[in-house]
Amino acid sequence: MTSSVALQPDPGLIVACTICRDVQEFDLLIEDMETELGESWGDLSFEDAKLFMGQPDAAALEFVAIAMTPQDENNLAVISDLIRTANDHNIKVIVIAEDVSPIALHQLLKLGAQEFVPYPLPDGALHDAIERLRAPAPVAPDASNTTQKGSADHNGVVLAVHGLAGGVGATTFAVNLAWELATVDKKDPPKVCLIDLDLQYGSVATYLDLARREAVFDLLSDTDSMDNDSFMQALLPYEDRLQVMTAPSDMLPLDIISSEDVQRLIDTAKANFDYIVVDMPSTVVQWTEVMLHAAHVYFAPMELDMRSAQNTLRMIRALKAEELPFEKLRYVLNRSPKFTDMSGKSRVKRMAESLEIDIEVMMPDGGKQVMEACDNGQPIGQTAAKNPLRKEIHKLAVSIHELNLSVAHAD
Ligand SMILES: Nc1ncnc2c1ncn2[C@@H]1O[C@H](COP(=O)(O)OP(=O)(O)OP(=O)(O)O)[C@@H](O)[C@H]1O
Ligand SMILES: [Mg+2]
Repeated sequence: MTSSVALQPDPGLIVACTICRDVQEFDLLIEDMETELGESWGDLSFEDAKLFMGQPDAAALEFVAIAMTPQDENNLAVISDLIRTANDHNIKVIVIAEDVSPIALHQLLKLGAQEFVPYPLPDGALHDAIERLRAPAPVAPDASNTTQKGSADHNGVVLAVHGLAGGVGATTFAVNLAWELATVDKKDPPKVCLIDLDLQYGSVATYLDLARREAVFDLLSDTDSMDNDSFMQALLPYEDRLQVMTAPSDMLPLDIISSEDVQRLIDTAKANFDYIVVDMPSTVVQWTEVMLHAAHVYFAPMELDMRSAQNTLRMIRALKAEELPFEKLRYVLNRSPKFTDMSGKSRVKRMAESLEIDIEVMMPDGGKQVMEACDNGQPIGQTAAKNPLRKEIHKLAVSIHELNLSVAHAD
């Protein structure tokens, strides 16, 4: 073994290990580990870690800190396996992640990693995570788990879409992403549910030519008695491929539903579907927080204009002030400049820099075909499969599905 663990004079003193491709890439982690643990920690490569955890030398290990970058997402199966091995040996796991996709992170946490800390490490973050690991586990049963029990056995991926300004294409993105996911694998199609929580102006019903139903209002106004059956009954199928919860028929105040209602709705949807796409109102409401926590990815569509830029800044500030997970936002630039539009591309770069964000998803203008598909009540994939916007949303759906499958298989 070439790792520094083997070099420690007294392996009995090793209470923690970092596990990563190259610990030198994580110099802040080295510093923090030294501050927290002095000399009593070591470093392991992904290859050596599994073996080491099974050896008597590892008996004193309190936790391992698995550090990863997007490059390691190809290695999720190995990392998942390490988390399981650690759990089997009663070793706690902290995942230290630099720019790792939220879906991958969620899956690692689901597999049994106790803590997640972003890299570069915020001040005191490793210290706090270690403290939480050392705190005794709560004994009270978790009420939210009991509500999830039922016949349904899925554990869906939640994708929220929240336009950072009105009319930036949030609903178009949500509807078409849901459709592309529902049709991503012809042989083994995932179960997809599209939920319109834009209770006032929700236009999912229009874009898919579906009726708005009273059952939705009944469901939302009494979530206490919601069960898998009443939830499924409030949905309408689109072409038998996609299940849709439209906005209610009447225009409702956004606070008619509480955070608990939204939590129950999402828990039930997760239990019944593989993917849940939620179209959010562009206003921030009380239950936005629930969705921010529940979503594996929180897409935030915007456009290349001052209005979007200013709203983005306000949104980030508001979320930071409330200590909400603003880093879950994945910015989607709609009507993004063409590949050849050099000045447009440099404007995108400047906007991202001035907002200190990464704009990760670029959606091109799809021209009139997009509005026509919306007005016809059909996904673009059905009316204009070659449309550039449709092609991009399709690619995104494929990558989400592939990533999800690769982690699920590692399960
Ligand atoms: N990339 C695009 N190319 C062409 N047309 C688009 C594109 N994105 C959206 N549109 C069109 O822009 C209009 C507004 O889109 P959409 O309703 O999806 O926006 P929204 O953000 O959901 O708006 P709201 O604030 O009303 O909820 C629609 O007519 C849609 O067809
Ligand atoms: Mg909308």
